[in-house]
Order: sequence, then structure tokens, then C-alpha cells
Amino acid sequence: MVFPQGFLWGAATAAFQIEGATTVDGRTDSIWDAFCRVPGAVVGGDTGEPAADHYRRFEQDVRMMADLGLKSYRFSVAWPRVRPDGGAVNQAGLDFYRRLVDTLLDNDILPWPTLYHWDLPQRLEEAGGWAVRDTAYRFAEYTASVVAALGDRVGTWTTLNEPWCSAFLGYAAGIHAPGRTDPAAAAAAVHHLLLGHGLAVGVIRELVPSAQVGITLNMYPIIAADPEASDVARRLDGLQQRIFLDPLLRGSYPADVVADLAPYGFSEHVRDGDLREISAPIDMLGVNYYTEHYVSASPNGAAGPSPWVGVEHVSFPRRDAQRTDMDWEVRPDGLTSVLLRLHEEYPRLPLYITENGAAFRDEVSGQGVEDADRTSYLASHLRAAHAAIAAGVDLRGYFCWSLMDNFEWAEGYAKRFGIVHVDYETQVRTPKMSARWFARVARDNALVA
Ligand code: NOJ
Repeated sequence: MVFPQGFLWGAATAAFQIEGATTVDGRTDSIWDAFCRVPGAVVGGDTGEPAADHYRRFEQDVRMMADLGLKSYRFSVAWPRVRPDGGAVNQAGLDFYRRLVDTLLDNDILPWPTLYHWDLPQRLEEAGGWAVRDTAYRFAEYTASVVAALGDRVGTWTTLNEPWCSAFLGYAAGIHAPGRTDPAAAAAAVHHLLLGHGLAVGVIRELVPSAQVGITLNMYPIIAADPEASDVARRLDGLQQRIFLDPLLRGSYPADVVADLAPYGFSEHVRDGDLREISAPIDMLGVNYYTEHYVSASPNGAAGPSPWVGVEHVSFPRRDAQRTDMDWEVRPDGLTSVLLRLHEEYPRLPLYITENGAAFRDEVSGQGVEDADRTSYLASHLRAAHAAIAAGVDLRGYFCWSLMDNFEWAEGYAKRFGIVHVDYETQVRTPKMSARWFARVARDNALVA
């Protein structure tokens, strides 16, 4: 199974999940630093320290990527390092990313930075966070400082990672930072995140006209468990996918979603010209894929705030399937359908899989980590990606999540997604079997069926 020539193979991480060094060189709190201090918010009381101590060990990590034959590395830039408290530019913070990018380039690895992977400066949250419009302008300002510093050596920029999570897990369900449970704030956050994206695209184009710019969304096929659930499936698809895809790629919010969010004042945030800004052409779309959502319209027994704003009756029945340590179903075919859907409904846009991978319980032995389940997860999803390419989808690359074990947000360090094992006590890195396998696939640009 050969991939197209020039197919980009890489691995992904995000700043807060791997860097540690949260108080070093002028960095101040992000919303995740603050959220980690809330008792019970993160499993085990885990925090951004020490993570994988990548801030101090990045050179060793880049050498490891080179040894694995990776052609590209997707990482994120930490806003609270570059503009602590959302304020003035901090040269020491920018310098870290300059050193990282230079080390990648010296090793022939293409840097693929994301500007926002969830670490909003806490001070900006205290001023209203993504629920207020001003944050979009602060994001554009921060983008300008990063791109001015690195734009001569970085050709590809991603604005936001999974804005659905930022808006709905962070502001409605409260299970991600900033931990708010206010559906109206979540609705506002959607628009302000998108506006921030649009403004950032403009800033990048102005500073580096040759740059490639995109955004990364988390995509799931949403499958109705029975005919009664088809309306719920449509609403969830609207709230999770079309609410981002349509304004970005068609220049308007979907009418059904606007109606669903009317009780939360969604449209009041949309000003003249915003949608033009948001729909500024992009060069590629990043797709993060993990699993499918199988939904039913029966009431969800679980009490508490939900990310599914306004949808009262929704539950996720369990199907017979292999599951990962996150309790997510392993559904490789869903990746093919997500890619085909994008190809058909939002055509002519190059696609990249910017994340795909799995947490499993790893057993470390003298032989290392023989993670057969993760290896087979990656293989089945690569076959699914290949099937989409064979059907005509313009898929140009694949980044596995994740390069190394890291801080899995509200789940803390217990969930391991890495193809490289991290011993958090010693910070020793050990490539797992999946890493050795992935390195071969990347080198051959092919998967042996
Ligand atoms: C999506 C996020 O972008 C990433 O930060 C996270 O660790 C993975 N999914 C796994 O949940």
C-alpha cells in the first residue's frame, strides 16, 4: 500500500502537554495551569509539571525524531511564553521556539506549528476569555509576534487546534480549562475563536505572503443508533462539525445550528464583516480523528453539564467494539468516511491528518514496550486513510498523536498516547514498537498490507 509521492509523515505534540518548565524564562499561567489547581479537575491532581520536560530536552527530542525518520513535527507555540499574561512580547519565550525550529531545520524536519493548542493566558481568561470579542484581537496580536519572529523559517501555520474542545469542553461542560459551565459563554466562544482564526490568517498572509495557512478540527462521523436518533445526530453534527466548517469554508453559519443556539444569544456576537474575515481562504484543513460517535435520543442518565448545548436527550450507547484506554471505540472506517465527507461537501481543499493515535496501557519490560495494540490501531487507520486517497481524496500527510507520552488534559499522565514511552521519574525516552514500525512506514512511504 504505497502513499502518494511527497506524502508528509510526522508526529504531533502540544506545548502544555510536553514542555513543563511552566515558570521558566518569563512564562506565566495559562488557563490549564489554573485549572490543574482546582481540586478534582485533573485525574491524580496532575499538572503541567514536569510533563516530558521538553523545554529543557528539546534537542534530544529532535534527534530522536530524526532517528525515527520523521519528515515533519507538529508542535504548538505557548501563548503565555510569547506574551505572558497576554501582554508584552517576551523575547525569551520566542527564543525557545526559534531554537526549536532551527534544530528541526538542521535535522531536515519540517516545522508544523500550531498557534493555539488550548493554553490561553489566564489573565485573558480573567478578562472574559474566549467568551469576549477582545480575545480574538489579542490572539491576532500574539500571532503577529510569533510569525514576525519565525516566518522566515516556517512555511506552514495552523491557527487553532480543535476549537470545539476549547468552546464546548472548556466553557459548557467544564471538563477542560477554564472549567466554565455556561452554555451562552460557549456559544460566544465559538464565534470568537473563529474570528481569532480569521484575523490570524490575515496577519500571517500580510507578514509572509507565501505561507500556507490552515486550521485543525476534530472530526467524527455521528451515527444514529436508530431512526429516532437521526435528529439528534444532525444536531450533534451541527454543533461539532458544521458550526466550524460552514463559516470557514462557505462563509455562513448553518441555519439549523443558529436556530439551536438562539436561546444562548449566539447571533448577537456576529458582526458585519466577521464572516468575511472567518472565511478568508485557507490552504489546508487539519483533521484530528480518533473514533466515531454512536448516538441515541434516549435521556442520558449522567447528570451534570454537557458539551451538547441545548440538546436535552442524547446518550452514547455502547457497541461491541475494541476500545482504547480512553474507552473510545476503535473505528478505522470512520476515518475514511470523515475524509470522504470533507472531499464531497467541502471540495478542493488539501487535507492533512494532523492527529490520529491511541492510548493503551503499556507494559514496560526489558525488551521495551511491545505495544501491539497501538501499532495495529495506527496500521488500520493508515489503511483507512489510504482507502480515502484511492477514492480521490486530496490527503497530503499524516501526523500520529503523539510523538511521546504526555499530559492528557483532564486525564493527566495516566493515559499514554506516545509512540515513544516517557518515564516521568527519570525522563528517559524509549521508542515503543509502534515507533519503530511507524519509522519504517515513513521511510518506505508505504504500508505492507
Ligand atoms: C486531541 C488534542 O488535540 C490533543 O491535545 C489530545 O491529547 C488528543 N486529542 C488525545 O485526546
